[in-house]
Amino acid sequence: MKSRICAFFVALVVTLSFMQCKHEPVVQPIANNPTQNVKDSVCFEEEILPLLASGCAKSGCHDNISRREGIVLDSYNHIRSTISGQLLTDIIQETGSNRMPPAPYASFTAEQIQLIKDWVSQGMKIGVDCAGPCDSTNITYSATIKPIIQNSCYGCHSTSNAPSSGGSIILDSYANIKTYVDNGKLECTINYAGCSPMPKGQVQLSPCKLTQIRKWVTAGAPNN
Ligand code: HEC
Repeated sequence: MKSRICAFFVALVVTLSFMQCKHEPVVQPIANNPTQNVKDSVCFEEEILPLLASGCAKSGCHDNISRREGIVLDSYNHIRSTISGQLLTDIIQETGSNRMPPAPYASFTAEQIQLIKDWVSQGMKIGVDCAGPCDSTNITYSATIKPIIQNSCYGCHSTSNAPSSGGSIILDSYANIKTYVDNGKLECTINYAGCSPMPKGQVQLSPCKLTQIRKWVTAGAPNN
């Protein structure tokens, strides 16, 4: 990381000196996903913390014990006191061997990167727009359920992360998730109903998300 930070500043100086000569900047910012609208406000607790906690605050990485590079991403206070918004957005947009989360862990999706960037550009706030209305009627796998699993569970249960972090349990496709719907373990874990509580080591899913999953399961867990 030190060499990366160093390389970053060298690149910045080179870029700035080129810019003064009115050349094109050497380092091009990675373009935003054009299909993605900037959200009005991102709820840290619901959308950002699950992502950083499951994707980055792993043992050996950025949990409060390992504290790699002094960066701890397991709670709001640790995030705010150990990383700047600029560094966070730079790091999640790195590609190749520098990318974070690093291989073999799954990288963040374009949507997840955009969400973090939106949160940073909105001032890295906590408690904003979290108690929005709970939509418990228009529930689909693709628009409701998949994003919940993606944000709160992929950090450990994607195909690439499951062997090291998720007890080899994979939840990154409809068919995989359906298996755990059918054997009752999806609901048993998230509702703390006698199974290992999930998401592991983190706060329980919000009542709204638990309701949405309950209704989807009751409707036969359709792949819609
Ligand atoms: C920080 C890592 C981590 C996160 C995040 C996480 N899990 Fe897990 N999960 C594990 C591990 C490790 C196991 C296997 C060992 C155990 O049960 O604790 C597991 C096991 C499971 C099992 C099988 C339980 C059983 O009794 O067989 C299910 C189902 C599950 N997780 C669902 C989820 C869901 C749903 C989410 C998101 C809401 C989630 N997990 C988030 C680490 C995680």
